[in-house]
Amino acid sequence: MEKFYITTAIDYVNGAPHIGHAYEKILTDVIYRHFTQRFDKTYFLTGTDEHGIKIQKTSAQNNMSPKELCDMNSQKFKDAWKALNVDYSQFIRTTDEQHEKVVQKIFKKLVEQGDIYKHSYKGLYCSGCECFLSEKDLTEDGLCPDHQKAPEIVEEENYFFKLTKYKDAIIKHIKTHPDFIVPSFRANEVLNQLENIEDISVSRATANVSWGIPVLDDPAQSIYVWIDALTNYITAIGYDPDGSSEKFKELWPATVQVIGKDILKFHSIYWPAILMALDLPLPEHLLAHGWITIDQTKMSKSLGNVISPETVMEAFNLTEPDSLRYYMASAAPCGKDGNYSDEDFKEKVNAHLANSMGNLLNRTLSMLVKYFEGDIKPEFLGKNELKEQALEAVKAVKHHFDYFEIQEAAQRIIELVDITNKYVTDNAPWTLAKEGQIEKCGIVLTNVLQVMTVIASLIYPFCPNIAKAMSEQLSYDINTKLDNITCEVLKSGHLIDKENIKPVFLRLDSELADKSKK
Ligand code: MSP
Repeated sequence: MEKFYITTAIDYVNGAPHIGHAYEKILTDVIYRHFTQRFDKTYFLTGTDEHGIKIQKTSAQNNMSPKELCDMNSQKFKDAWKALNVDYSQFIRTTDEQHEKVVQKIFKKLVEQGDIYKHSYKGLYCSGCECFLSEKDLTEDGLCPDHQKAPEIVEEENYFFKLTKYKDAIIKHIKTHPDFIVPSFRANEVLNQLENIEDISVSRATANVSWGIPVLDDPAQSIYVWIDALTNYITAIGYDPDGSSEKFKELWPATVQVIGKDILKFHSIYWPAILMALDLPLPEHLLAHGWITIDQTKMSKSLGNVISPETVMEAFNLTEPDSLRYYMASAAPCGKDGNYSDEDFKEKVNAHLANSMGNLLNRTLSMLVKYFEGDIKPEFLGKNELKEQALEAVKAVKHHFDYFEIQEAAQRIIELVDITNKYVTDNAPWTLAKEGQIEKCGIVLTNVLQVMTVIASLIYPFCPNIAKAMSEQLSYDINTKLDNITCEVLKSGHLIDKENIKPVFLRLDSELADKSKK
Protein backbone atom coordinates (compact mmCIF):
# COMPACT_ATOMS: atom_id res chain seq x y z
CA MET A 1 0.00 0.00 0.00
CA GLU A 2 1.50 3.30 -1.05
CA LYS A 3 0.79 6.32 1.14
CA PHE A 4 0.78 9.92 0.06
CA TYR A 5 0.99 12.82 2.53
CA ILE A 6 0.76 16.32 1.05
CA THR A 7 0.87 19.69 2.84
CA THR A 8 0.51 23.37 1.92
CA ALA A 9 2.09 26.40 3.52
CA ILE A 10 -0.06 27.66 6.37
CA ASP A 11 -1.32 31.18 5.64
CA TYR A 12 -0.90 34.25 7.81
CA VAL A 13 -4.24 35.44 9.10
CA ASN A 14 -3.71 39.19 9.11
CA GLY A 15 -6.05 39.44 6.12
CA ALA A 16 -8.43 37.44 3.97
CA PRO A 17 -7.28 34.89 1.38
CA HIS A 18 -6.45 36.17 -2.08
CA ILE A 19 -6.04 34.46 -5.41
CA GLY A 20 -2.35 33.71 -4.71
CA HIS A 21 -3.23 31.74 -1.55
CA ALA A 22 -6.01 30.10 -3.55
CA TYR A 23 -3.58 29.09 -6.31
CA GLU A 24 -1.47 27.10 -3.86
CA LYS A 25 -4.42 25.37 -2.24
CA ILE A 26 -6.04 24.49 -5.58
CA LEU A 27 -2.74 23.20 -6.96
CA THR A 28 -2.29 21.05 -3.86
CA ASP A 29 -5.86 19.79 -3.99
CA VAL A 30 -5.49 18.80 -7.64
CA ILE A 31 -2.32 16.85 -6.85
CA TYR A 32 -3.96 15.28 -3.82
CA ARG A 33 -7.06 14.23 -5.73
CA HIS A 34 -4.96 12.74 -8.52
CA PHE A 35 -3.02 10.61 -6.04
CA THR A 36 -6.22 9.48 -4.29
CA GLN A 37 -7.03 7.98 -7.71
CA ARG A 38 -3.84 5.92 -7.42
CA PHE A 39 -3.05 5.23 -3.77
CA ASP A 40 -5.06 3.79 -0.88
CA LYS A 41 -3.77 6.03 1.89
CA THR A 42 -3.68 9.77 1.13
CA TYR A 43 -3.70 12.73 3.51
CA PHE A 44 -3.84 16.47 2.86
CA LEU A 45 -2.95 19.03 5.53
CA THR A 46 -3.47 22.78 5.35
CA GLY A 47 -4.08 25.50 7.92
CA THR A 48 -3.27 28.94 9.25
CA ASP A 49 -0.18 30.48 10.83
CA GLU A 50 -1.44 32.70 13.62
CA HIS A 51 1.28 33.97 15.95
CA GLY A 52 3.68 36.87 15.58
CA ILE A 53 4.09 40.59 15.71
CA LYS A 54 1.99 41.28 12.61
CA ILE A 55 -1.13 39.75 14.14
CA GLN A 56 -0.40 41.49 17.43
CA LYS A 57 -0.22 44.86 15.66
CA THR A 58 -3.17 44.34 13.30
CA SER A 59 -5.44 43.17 16.09
CA ALA A 60 -4.48 46.19 18.24
CA GLN A 61 -5.26 48.52 15.31
CA ASN A 62 -8.69 46.87 15.00
CA ASN A 63 -9.44 46.97 18.73
CA MET A 64 -9.58 43.21 18.88
CA SER A 65 -7.67 40.62 20.81
CA PRO A 66 -5.17 38.65 18.69
CA LYS A 67 -7.24 35.51 19.20
CA GLU A 68 -10.42 37.22 17.99
CA LEU A 69 -8.65 38.40 14.85
CA CYS A 70 -7.24 34.90 14.25
CA ASP A 71 -10.64 33.25 14.76
CA MET A 72 -12.29 35.66 12.35
CA ASN A 73 -9.69 35.44 9.60
CA SER A 74 -8.90 31.75 9.92
CA GLN A 75 -12.60 31.12 9.25
CA LYS A 76 -12.31 33.17 6.04
CA PHE A 77 -9.63 30.78 4.78
CA LYS A 78 -11.77 27.77 5.66
CA ASP A 79 -14.78 29.32 3.89
CA ALA A 80 -12.72 30.08 0.79
CA TRP A 81 -11.36 26.53 0.59
CA LYS A 82 -14.88 25.17 0.96
CA ALA A 83 -16.11 27.37 -1.89
CA LEU A 84 -13.20 26.14 -4.03
CA ASN A 85 -13.89 22.51 -3.16
CA VAL A 86 -10.45 22.09 -1.57
CA ASP A 87 -10.85 18.71 0.05
CA TYR A 88 -8.26 18.87 2.84
CA SER A 89 -8.13 16.08 5.41
CA GLN A 90 -7.13 18.38 8.27
CA PHE A 91 -6.93 22.11 8.95
CA ILE A 92 -4.37 23.01 11.61
CA ARG A 93 -4.24 26.36 13.39
CA THR A 94 -0.99 27.18 15.17
CA THR A 95 -3.13 28.40 18.08
CA ASP A 96 -4.51 24.85 18.55
CA GLU A 97 -3.72 23.75 22.09
CA GLN A 98 -2.18 20.46 20.98
CA HIS A 99 0.16 22.23 18.54
CA GLU A 100 1.25 24.79 21.15
CA LYS A 101 2.01 22.07 23.71
CA VAL A 102 4.09 19.99 21.32
CA VAL A 103 5.98 23.06 20.04
CA GLN A 104 6.97 23.81 23.64
CA LYS A 105 8.18 20.23 24.10
CA ILE A 106 10.12 20.31 20.82
CA PHE A 107 11.78 23.56 21.88
CA LYS A 108 12.67 22.12 25.29
CA LYS A 109 14.13 18.98 23.70
CA LEU A 110 16.28 21.07 21.37
CA VAL A 111 17.51 23.21 24.29
CA GLU A 112 18.32 20.10 26.31
CA GLN A 113 20.31 18.47 23.52
CA GLY A 114 22.24 21.71 22.86
CA ASP A 115 20.74 22.58 19.46
CA ILE A 116 19.17 25.73 20.91
CA TYR A 117 21.18 28.16 23.04
CA LYS A 118 20.66 31.65 24.53
CA HIS A 119 22.57 34.54 23.05
CA SER A 120 22.50 38.32 23.15
CA TYR A 121 21.76 39.74 19.72
CA LYS A 122 21.43 43.01 17.87
CA GLY A 123 19.90 42.81 14.41
CA LEU A 124 17.66 44.29 11.74
CA TYR A 125 14.17 42.89 12.04
CA CYS A 126 11.54 43.08 9.31
CA SER A 127 8.09 42.46 10.74
CA GLY A 128 6.75 41.90 7.19
CA CYS A 129 9.06 38.90 6.76
CA GLU A 130 8.91 38.03 10.45
CA CYS A 131 12.67 37.55 10.38
CA PHE A 132 16.03 39.19 10.93
CA LEU A 133 17.77 40.50 7.81
CA SER A 134 21.42 41.16 7.24
CA GLU A 135 22.78 44.40 5.70
CA LYS A 136 23.36 42.67 2.40
CA ASP A 137 19.70 41.58 2.18
CA LEU A 138 18.60 45.25 2.03
CA THR A 139 18.09 47.55 -0.95
CA GLU A 140 20.47 50.47 -1.58
CA ASP A 141 18.11 52.65 0.48
CA GLY A 142 18.31 50.26 3.41
CA LEU A 143 14.82 48.81 2.86
CA CYS A 144 13.55 45.24 2.95
CA PRO A 145 13.32 44.36 -0.75
CA ASP A 146 10.03 42.48 -0.31
CA HIS A 147 8.22 44.97 1.91
CA GLN A 148 9.92 48.25 0.94
CA LYS A 149 10.13 49.18 4.61
CA ALA A 150 13.15 49.95 6.76
CA PRO A 151 13.72 47.12 9.26
CA GLU A 152 13.70 47.94 12.99
CA ILE A 153 16.90 47.64 14.99
CA VAL A 154 16.22 45.01 17.62
CA GLU A 155 18.55 44.31 20.50
CA GLU A 156 17.49 41.37 22.60
CA GLU A 157 18.61 38.26 24.34
CA ASN A 158 17.11 35.45 22.23
CA TYR A 159 17.33 31.73 21.84
CA PHE A 160 19.26 30.63 18.77
CA PHE A 161 19.09 27.43 16.79
CA LYS A 162 22.40 25.91 15.64
CA LEU A 163 21.60 25.96 11.94
CA THR A 164 25.29 25.93 11.03
CA LYS A 165 25.70 22.50 12.65
CA TYR A 166 23.47 21.02 9.92
CA LYS A 167 24.86 22.94 6.95
CA ASP A 168 26.99 20.12 5.51
CA ALA A 169 24.30 17.48 6.00
CA ILE A 170 21.74 19.65 4.19
CA ILE A 171 24.11 20.35 1.30
CA LYS A 172 24.76 16.62 1.02
CA HIS A 173 21.05 15.83 1.08
CA ILE A 174 20.26 18.31 -1.68
CA LYS A 175 23.13 17.05 -3.82
CA THR A 176 22.27 13.39 -3.38
CA HIS A 177 18.49 13.87 -3.79
CA PRO A 178 18.09 15.80 -7.04
CA ASP A 179 14.28 15.53 -6.79
CA PHE A 180 14.13 16.95 -3.24
CA ILE A 181 13.62 20.49 -4.50
CA VAL A 182 11.11 20.77 -7.35
CA PRO A 183 11.65 22.32 -9.83
CA SER A 184 15.31 21.37 -9.70
CA PHE A 185 16.54 24.73 -11.04
CA ARG A 186 15.80 26.18 -7.59
CA ALA A 187 18.27 23.82 -5.89
CA ASN A 188 21.21 25.96 -6.98
CA GLU A 189 19.67 29.05 -5.41
CA VAL A 190 19.36 27.14 -2.14
CA LEU A 191 22.92 25.82 -2.31
CA ASN A 192 24.13 29.41 -2.77
CA GLN A 193 22.10 30.58 0.23
CA LEU A 194 23.55 27.75 2.29
CA GLU A 195 27.05 29.14 1.75
CA ASN A 196 26.32 32.11 4.02
CA ILE A 197 24.01 30.75 6.67
CA GLU A 198 24.31 31.63 10.32
CA ASP A 199 22.56 30.32 13.42
CA ILE A 200 19.01 31.69 13.58
CA SER A 201 17.04 33.41 16.27
CA VAL A 202 14.08 31.25 17.30
CA SER A 203 12.55 33.31 20.10
CA ARG A 204 11.65 36.92 20.84
CA ALA A 205 11.40 38.73 24.17
CA THR A 206 7.77 38.38 25.31
CA ALA A 207 7.92 42.08 26.24
CA ASN A 208 8.28 42.84 22.50
CA VAL A 209 6.29 39.99 20.98
CA SER A 210 3.65 38.76 23.36
CA TRP A 211 1.49 36.92 20.78
CA GLY A 212 3.54 33.76 20.65
CA ILE A 213 4.00 30.44 22.41
CA PRO A 214 5.94 30.97 25.66
CA VAL A 215 9.16 29.01 26.11
CA LEU A 216 8.63 26.39 28.83
CA ASP A 217 10.57 27.35 31.97
CA ASP A 218 11.36 30.79 30.47
CA PRO A 219 8.09 32.66 29.76
CA ALA A 220 9.98 35.93 29.22
CA GLN A 221 10.72 34.48 25.75
CA SER A 222 8.14 33.62 23.07
CA ILE A 223 8.88 31.01 20.44
CA TYR A 224 9.22 32.91 17.24
CA VAL A 225 7.38 32.14 14.02
CA TRP A 226 9.44 29.67 12.04
CA ILE A 227 9.91 26.97 14.72
CA ASP A 228 6.23 27.34 15.57
CA ALA A 229 5.07 27.43 11.93
CA LEU A 230 7.24 24.75 10.33
CA THR A 231 6.55 22.14 12.97
CA ASN A 232 2.81 22.24 12.13
CA TYR A 233 3.51 19.58 9.50
CA ILE A 234 4.40 17.06 12.19
CA THR A 235 2.41 18.23 15.23
CA ALA A 236 -0.83 18.07 13.21
CA ILE A 237 -0.46 14.36 12.60
CA GLY A 238 0.61 13.46 16.11
CA TYR A 239 4.35 13.97 16.50
CA ASP A 240 5.38 14.17 20.14
CA PRO A 241 8.96 14.00 21.44
CA ASP A 242 7.62 11.79 24.24
CA GLY A 243 6.04 9.31 21.85
CA SER A 244 4.26 9.92 18.55
CA SER A 245 0.90 8.63 17.39
CA GLU A 246 0.34 5.70 15.01
CA LYS A 247 -0.96 8.23 12.48
CA PHE A 248 2.35 10.05 12.55
CA LYS A 249 4.28 6.82 12.07
CA GLU A 250 2.07 5.97 9.14
CA LEU A 251 2.24 9.36 7.40
CA TRP A 252 5.64 10.90 8.06
CA PRO A 253 7.75 11.72 6.05
CA ALA A 254 5.55 13.86 3.85
CA THR A 255 5.53 12.91 0.21
CA VAL A 256 5.37 16.49 -1.01
CA GLN A 257 5.23 19.86 0.71
CA VAL A 258 3.79 22.57 -1.52
CA ILE A 259 5.03 26.11 -0.83
CA GLY A 260 5.61 29.39 -2.64
CA LYS A 261 9.08 30.21 -3.97
CA ASP A 262 9.40 33.04 -1.40
CA ILE A 263 9.50 30.60 1.50
CA LEU A 264 11.69 27.95 -0.08
CA LYS A 265 14.69 29.01 2.01
CA PHE A 266 12.81 28.31 5.25
CA HIS A 267 11.60 24.94 3.96
CA SER A 268 14.80 23.75 2.32
CA ILE A 269 17.27 24.94 4.99
CA TYR A 270 15.59 25.65 8.36
CA TRP A 271 13.05 22.83 8.13
CA PRO A 272 15.51 20.05 7.20
CA ALA A 273 17.81 21.22 10.02
CA ILE A 274 14.97 21.06 12.56
CA LEU A 275 13.99 17.59 11.32
CA MET A 276 17.61 16.41 11.50
CA ALA A 277 17.86 17.74 15.05
CA LEU A 278 14.70 15.79 15.92
CA ASP A 279 16.15 12.73 14.20
CA LEU A 280 13.25 12.59 11.74
CA PRO A 281 13.42 11.84 8.01
CA LEU A 282 13.07 14.71 5.52
CA PRO A 283 10.09 15.11 3.20
CA GLU A 284 10.52 13.46 -0.20
CA HIS A 285 9.81 16.60 -2.24
CA LEU A 286 9.46 20.34 -1.70
CA LEU A 287 7.39 21.77 -4.52
CA ALA A 288 8.11 25.50 -4.78
CA HIS A 289 5.46 27.08 -6.98
CA GLY A 290 5.73 30.47 -8.62
CA TRP A 291 3.65 33.55 -7.88
CA ILE A 292 0.37 34.63 -9.41
CA THR A 293 0.26 38.11 -10.86
CA ILE A 294 -2.88 40.01 -11.88
CA ASP A 295 -2.86 41.24 -15.47
CA GLN A 296 0.93 40.73 -15.34
CA THR A 297 1.28 42.99 -12.27
CA LYS A 298 2.37 41.93 -8.80
CA MET A 299 -0.61 41.91 -6.43
CA SER A 300 -0.33 44.50 -3.70
CA LYS A 301 -2.57 46.35 -1.31
CA SER A 302 -1.07 49.67 -2.38
CA LEU A 303 -1.88 49.02 -6.06
CA GLY A 304 -5.39 47.97 -5.03
CA ASN A 305 -5.27 44.95 -7.35
CA VAL A 306 -5.59 42.19 -4.76
CA ILE A 307 -8.42 39.91 -5.78
CA SER A 308 -10.04 37.13 -3.84
CA PRO A 309 -11.30 33.86 -5.28
CA GLU A 310 -14.83 34.82 -4.16
CA THR A 311 -14.66 38.03 -6.25
CA VAL A 312 -13.95 35.98 -9.36
CA MET A 313 -16.70 33.49 -8.60
CA GLU A 314 -19.23 36.27 -8.02
CA ALA A 315 -18.16 38.29 -11.06
CA PHE A 316 -18.67 35.32 -13.36
CA ASN A 317 -21.69 34.05 -11.47
CA LEU A 318 -20.04 30.68 -10.90
CA THR A 319 -22.10 28.22 -8.90
CA GLU A 320 -19.27 25.67 -8.97
CA PRO A 321 -15.53 26.41 -8.68
CA ASP A 322 -14.43 23.90 -11.36
CA SER A 323 -13.55 26.40 -14.06
CA LEU A 324 -11.51 28.55 -11.68
CA ARG A 325 -9.76 25.45 -10.34
CA TYR A 326 -8.94 24.31 -13.86
CA TYR A 327 -7.67 27.74 -14.85
CA MET A 328 -5.56 28.30 -11.73
CA ALA A 329 -4.04 24.82 -11.56
CA SER A 330 -2.95 25.03 -15.18
CA ALA A 331 -1.90 28.69 -14.99
CA ALA A 332 1.85 28.09 -15.03
CA PRO A 333 4.45 25.41 -15.68
CA CYS A 334 5.74 23.84 -12.49
CA GLY A 335 7.54 26.46 -10.40
CA LYS A 336 7.14 29.39 -12.80
CA ASP A 337 5.01 32.48 -12.17
CA GLY A 338 1.47 32.48 -13.54
CA ASN A 339 -1.00 35.21 -14.33
CA TYR A 340 -4.71 35.75 -13.77
CA SER A 341 -6.74 37.88 -16.15
CA ASP A 342 -10.55 37.91 -16.57
CA GLU A 343 -10.26 37.80 -20.33
CA ASP A 344 -7.86 34.85 -20.41
CA PHE A 345 -9.89 32.97 -17.79
CA LYS A 346 -13.07 33.33 -19.79
CA GLU A 347 -11.42 32.42 -23.08
CA LYS A 348 -9.57 29.37 -21.80
CA VAL A 349 -12.39 27.76 -19.86
CA ASN A 350 -14.94 28.45 -22.60
CA ALA A 351 -12.65 26.89 -25.18
CA HIS A 352 -11.49 23.87 -23.17
CA LEU A 353 -14.31 23.00 -20.81
CA ALA A 354 -17.39 24.15 -22.75
CA ASN A 355 -16.59 24.05 -26.48
CA SER A 356 -14.21 21.09 -26.56
CA MET A 357 -14.99 18.79 -23.65
CA GLY A 358 -18.58 19.56 -22.64
CA ASN A 359 -19.90 19.76 -26.21
CA LEU A 360 -18.21 16.53 -27.18
CA LEU A 361 -20.09 14.59 -24.52
CA ASN A 362 -23.33 16.44 -25.16
CA ARG A 363 -23.49 15.89 -28.88
CA THR A 364 -22.29 12.29 -28.71
CA LEU A 365 -24.98 11.38 -26.17
CA SER A 366 -27.56 13.29 -28.23
CA MET A 367 -26.63 11.24 -31.33
CA LEU A 368 -26.83 8.02 -29.32
CA VAL A 369 -30.38 8.98 -28.35
CA LYS A 370 -31.28 10.18 -31.84
CA TYR A 371 -30.03 7.10 -33.72
CA PHE A 372 -30.24 4.35 -31.08
CA GLU A 373 -32.71 5.59 -28.43
CA GLY A 374 -29.80 5.85 -25.99
CA ASP A 375 -28.80 2.19 -26.31
CA ILE A 376 -25.34 0.69 -26.77
CA LYS A 377 -25.83 -2.47 -28.84
CA PRO A 378 -23.52 -5.49 -28.33
CA GLU A 379 -22.16 -5.15 -31.87
CA PHE A 380 -20.86 -1.62 -31.09
CA LEU A 381 -18.35 -3.00 -28.59
CA GLY A 382 -14.88 -4.44 -29.03
CA LYS A 383 -13.61 -2.34 -31.92
CA ASN A 384 -12.29 0.64 -30.04
CA GLU A 385 -9.97 2.50 -32.38
CA LEU A 386 -9.26 5.21 -29.81
CA LYS A 387 -8.39 2.98 -26.90
CA GLU A 388 -4.62 3.04 -27.36
CA GLN A 389 -4.56 6.83 -27.48
CA ALA A 390 -6.73 7.13 -24.37
CA LEU A 391 -4.55 4.69 -22.42
CA GLU A 392 -1.43 6.51 -23.63
CA ALA A 393 -2.93 9.73 -22.25
CA VAL A 394 -3.54 8.09 -18.85
CA LYS A 395 0.10 7.03 -18.74
CA ALA A 396 1.30 10.48 -19.76
CA VAL A 397 -0.90 12.28 -17.23
CA LYS A 398 0.34 9.99 -14.42
CA HIS A 399 3.91 10.67 -15.50
CA HIS A 400 3.32 14.44 -15.44
CA PHE A 401 1.82 14.22 -11.95
CA ASP A 402 4.79 12.14 -10.77
CA TYR A 403 6.93 15.13 -11.71
CA PHE A 404 4.36 17.70 -10.49
CA GLU A 405 3.91 19.01 -14.03
CA ILE A 406 0.33 20.00 -13.46
CA GLN A 407 -0.06 22.41 -16.37
CA GLU A 408 1.35 19.78 -18.71
CA ALA A 409 -1.05 17.18 -17.31
CA ALA A 410 -4.01 19.49 -18.03
CA GLN A 411 -2.71 20.11 -21.54
CA ARG A 412 -2.41 16.36 -22.16
CA ILE A 413 -6.04 15.84 -21.09
CA ILE A 414 -7.25 18.55 -23.46
CA GLU A 415 -5.09 16.97 -26.18
CA LEU A 416 -7.04 13.73 -25.71
CA VAL A 417 -10.27 15.73 -25.95
CA ASP A 418 -9.01 17.26 -29.21
CA ILE A 419 -7.99 13.86 -30.60
CA THR A 420 -11.47 12.56 -29.80
CA ASN A 421 -13.16 15.58 -31.37
CA LYS A 422 -11.08 15.02 -34.50
CA TYR A 423 -12.12 11.35 -34.53
CA VAL A 424 -15.77 12.48 -34.51
CA THR A 425 -15.18 14.99 -37.31
CA ASP A 426 -13.20 12.49 -39.40
CA ASN A 427 -15.78 9.72 -39.00
CA ALA A 428 -18.85 11.98 -39.21
CA PRO A 429 -21.32 9.63 -37.48
CA TRP A 430 -24.25 11.78 -38.75
CA THR A 431 -23.18 11.00 -42.34
CA LEU A 432 -22.75 7.31 -41.50
CA ALA A 433 -26.30 7.30 -40.14
CA LYS A 434 -27.63 9.09 -43.23
CA GLU A 435 -25.86 6.63 -45.52
CA GLY A 436 -27.30 3.67 -43.63
CA GLN A 437 -23.96 2.57 -42.14
CA ILE A 438 -25.73 2.33 -38.86
CA GLU A 439 -23.46 -0.19 -37.12
CA LYS A 440 -20.35 1.84 -37.97
CA CYS A 441 -22.14 4.92 -36.61
CA GLY A 442 -22.89 3.08 -33.34
CA ILE A 443 -19.26 1.93 -33.07
CA VAL A 444 -17.95 5.48 -33.50
CA LEU A 445 -20.32 6.89 -30.87
CA THR A 446 -19.54 4.08 -28.43
CA ASN A 447 -15.80 4.56 -28.90
CA VAL A 448 -16.15 8.25 -28.10
CA LEU A 449 -18.23 7.54 -24.99
CA GLN A 450 -15.69 4.97 -23.77
CA VAL A 451 -12.98 7.62 -24.10
CA MET A 452 -15.22 10.12 -22.30
CA THR A 453 -15.13 7.86 -19.22
CA VAL A 454 -11.34 8.12 -19.30
CA ILE A 455 -11.52 11.89 -19.76
CA ALA A 456 -13.93 12.14 -16.80
CA SER A 457 -11.41 10.32 -14.60
CA LEU A 458 -8.48 12.41 -15.81
CA ILE A 459 -10.22 15.76 -15.45
CA TYR A 460 -11.66 14.84 -12.03
CA PRO A 461 -8.81 16.31 -9.91
CA PHE A 462 -9.16 19.66 -11.68
CA CYS A 463 -12.95 19.72 -12.07
CA PRO A 464 -14.59 17.32 -9.59
CA ASN A 465 -18.16 18.54 -10.22
CA ILE A 466 -17.90 18.47 -13.99
CA ALA A 467 -16.31 15.02 -13.83
CA LYS A 468 -19.14 13.79 -11.61
CA ALA A 469 -21.77 15.24 -13.99
CA MET A 470 -20.02 13.53 -16.91
CA SER A 471 -19.77 10.21 -15.13
CA GLU A 472 -23.44 10.29 -14.09
CA GLN A 473 -24.53 10.65 -17.69
CA LEU A 474 -22.20 7.81 -18.65
CA SER A 475 -23.24 5.64 -15.67
CA TYR A 476 -19.54 5.46 -14.90
CA ASP A 477 -18.01 5.08 -11.44
CA ILE A 478 -15.85 8.18 -11.01
CA ASN A 479 -14.06 6.50 -8.10
CA THR A 480 -12.42 4.02 -10.47
CA LYS A 481 -8.68 3.90 -9.70
CA LEU A 482 -6.50 5.06 -12.57
CA ASP A 483 -4.75 1.68 -12.66
CA ASN A 484 -8.09 0.01 -13.41
CA ILE A 485 -8.96 2.19 -16.38
CA THR A 486 -9.68 0.06 -19.45
CA CYS A 487 -11.49 2.30 -21.93
CA GLU A 488 -14.03 -0.53 -22.26
CA VAL A 489 -16.05 0.05 -19.16
CA LEU A 490 -19.35 0.78 -20.94
CA LYS A 491 -21.34 -2.39 -21.58
CA SER A 492 -24.21 -3.02 -23.96
CA GLY A 493 -27.66 -1.90 -22.82
CA HIS A 494 -29.61 1.29 -22.30
CA LEU A 495 -27.32 4.21 -21.38
CA ILE A 496 -29.37 7.40 -21.28
CA ASP A 497 -32.68 9.11 -22.12
CA LYS A 498 -32.96 12.46 -23.83
CA GLU A 499 -34.16 14.31 -20.72
CA ASN A 500 -31.07 13.23 -18.78
CA ILE A 501 -28.60 14.77 -21.22
CA LYS A 502 -27.40 18.04 -19.71
CA PRO A 503 -24.49 20.34 -20.53
CA VAL A 504 -21.74 19.67 -17.98
CA PHE A 505 -20.33 23.20 -18.21
CA LEU A 506 -22.00 26.40 -19.38
CA ARG A 507 -19.93 28.99 -21.23
CA LEU A 508 -19.05 31.98 -19.08
CA ASP A 509 -21.41 34.82 -19.80
CA SER A 510 -19.43 37.49 -21.56
CA GLU A 511 -21.56 40.38 -20.28
CA LEU A 512 -20.97 39.30 -16.71
CA ALA A 513 -17.29 38.96 -17.42
CA ASP A 514 -17.16 42.47 -18.81
CA LYS A 515 -18.97 43.78 -15.77
CA SER A 516 -16.36 42.24 -13.50
CA LYS A 517 -13.61 44.08 -15.35
CA LYS A 518 -15.21 47.42 -14.58
N1 MSP B 1 2.89 31.71 7.16
C1 MSP B 1 3.92 31.62 6.18
C2 MSP B 1 4.13 30.19 5.75
C3 MSP B 1 4.46 29.24 6.84
S1 MSP B 1 4.55 27.61 6.27
C4 MSP B 1 5.10 26.76 7.58
C5 MSP B 1 3.52 32.45 4.94
N2 MSP B 1 2.26 32.84 4.88
S2 MSP B 1 1.63 33.71 3.66
O1 MSP B 1 0.25 33.88 3.96
O2 MSP B 1 2.41 34.89 3.45
O3 MSP B 1 1.80 32.84 2.37
C6 MSP B 1 1.21 31.57 2.32
C7 MSP B 1 1.50 30.89 0.99
O4 MSP B 1 0.87 31.63 -0.04
C8 MSP B 1 3.00 30.87 0.68
O5 MSP B 1 3.38 29.61 0.15
C9 MSP B 1 3.15 31.95 -0.36
O6 MSP B 1 4.19 31.71 -1.27
C10 MSP B 1 1.80 31.86 -1.06
N3 MSP B 1 1.49 33.10 -1.76
C11 MSP B 1 1.28 34.34 -1.25
N4 MSP B 1 1.07 35.22 -2.28
C12 MSP B 1 1.13 34.56 -3.46
C13 MSP B 1 0.93 34.88 -4.81
N5 MSP B 1 0.69 36.10 -5.22
N6 MSP B 1 0.98 33.87 -5.71
C14 MSP B 1 1.17 32.55 -5.34
N7 MSP B 1 1.37 32.23 -4.08
C15 MSP B 1 1.44 33.20 -3.14
O7 MSP B 1 4.39 32.70 4.12
